[in-house]
Amino acid sequence: MHVPKESNGKPALHPGNSDFIVVSNRLPVDRVPQEESDDGWRRSPGGLVTALAPVMASRGGAWVGWHGAPDEALEPFHHDNMDLIPVGLSAEEVELYYEGFSNSTLWPLYHDVIAPPEFHRTWWDAYRTVNQRFAHAAAGAAAKGATVWVQDYQLQLVPRYLRQLRPDLRIGFFNHIPFPPPEIFAQLPWRKEIISGLLEADLVGFQRASDTANFLRSARRFVGAGVKAAQVQSKDQDGKVVHISRAAPFPISIDVGQIQELAANPDVIARAKQIREDLGNPKTILLGVDRLDYTKGITHRLKAYGELLTEKTIKVEDAALIQVASPSRERVETYKQLREDVEGIVGRINGQHDTIQNTAVRYLHHSYPVEEMVALYLAADVMLVTALRDGMNLVAKEYVAARGDNTGALVLSEFAGAADQLKSALLVNPHDIDGLKSTIVRAVNLSPAESSRRMRAMRRQILTHDVQRWSEDFLTTLQTEAEPV
Ligand code: F6P
Repeated sequence: MHVPKESNGKPALHPGNSDFIVVSNRLPVDRVPQEESDDGWRRSPGGLVTALAPVMASRGGAWVGWHGAPDEALEPFHHDNMDLIPVGLSAEEVELYYEGFSNSTLWPLYHDVIAPPEFHRTWWDAYRTVNQRFAHAAAGAAAKGATVWVQDYQLQLVPRYLRQLRPDLRIGFFNHIPFPPPEIFAQLPWRKEIISGLLEADLVGFQRASDTANFLRSARRFVGAGVKAAQVQSKDQDGKVVHISRAAPFPISIDVGQIQELAANPDVIARAKQIREDLGNPKTILLGVDRLDYTKGITHRLKAYGELLTEKTIKVEDAALIQVASPSRERVETYKQLREDVEGIVGRINGQHDTIQNTAVRYLHHSYPVEEMVALYLAADVMLVTALRDGMNLVAKEYVAARGDNTGALVLSEFAGAADQLKSALLVNPHDIDGLKSTIVRAVNLSPAESSRRMRAMRRQILTHDVQRWSEDFLTTLQTEAEPV
């Protein structure tokens, strides 16, 4: 068993001492084989860690989560101003709870059933068992009256188990992905248990107002909850309100300061220039950055771009598309299929349109450090975010934060939560391929004046709503006592 060394000379964690605890499926760092990283750790993928890591690094506290390696037990350790409390998962639990119930049942169900969700009782059993384990770990680490903030769809039963173990705690829950309308949620055989699990939290936060409304409608419909305004009230036999759970939207954001700092860093600026040169200094660089996930609309984007090349509306000498697709959930069948589809389409587009000097699509099946991401944002004239459904999409916000000179164009799906805040983006319905094509052409040809007007408006929003503000808004609301309405 590998036990990481203590950093910063801090003593090991004493359970029961933490006043503030975040609980999420993944820790901010993943265990990786020694040959892949110097210290055996790598930053975990996804928007959740991007958003929460800076919050936790500045406020401190404990973080309970899985360390990404099956069948490995680790002791708590200290990292980046946080106490990390690893929760172990067996290889079978990874298959049933993580790849199964979380990512083949809930993920497609919560993302508009873009892929068909699968319902298996063995997966549900594993989900319950693992949620209990996370709740135990948090209960053991929490000080009396502590605040515990549970994150995302993998852990929707944790508020209930935690409340049973530790009624003294203040419990918040934040859902990073969409919450589906009751007409879709109804398919879930365990819909009552999920809603009741969430309702044990004092505050349930969502990305969008529409997610909040969907949840409240489901609470009313499936557990007969008394919903008043944004409150769900539980009453005793005498009709006295004994517990109030509130639901509200808290759109998540990014570490704006970090992105701005990197965007002004001479090395990053030089790297952006280098990227443009390496591509042969085309007039326009288009960029897509996504986890390789079927919700992200990567195939729709490639289809639109390929057709524009075929019709010669865009010439391969003038424009290049960089598509970063970071590896994700690679053992899940729908993800394997997506990778084949995307790579087939990229191969066909490049085979048809490449010249000796020019490549139509630079497809990069890698993850990159944030410095390289910001260099890509600086190099790109047009950012393409064409998700079919997305809780928020932080890449869109990072692009805007990086564009300090108010240039560039953001093509943004109306089905991404970010569309609620970035109203001056060029909004698209990615299912409408002709509409997507004309919006890409519009973005490529946007006048400097219009580009600047739109970017300024978006930057005003992002610069005043960073991730610190998001966490403060949520945690302040969580601390205030709910008055029955
Ligand atoms: O919010 C989206 C999310 O599912 C996070 O919960 C998760 O950590 C991230 O995307 C990446 O996915 P995964 O942990 O399955 O690799």
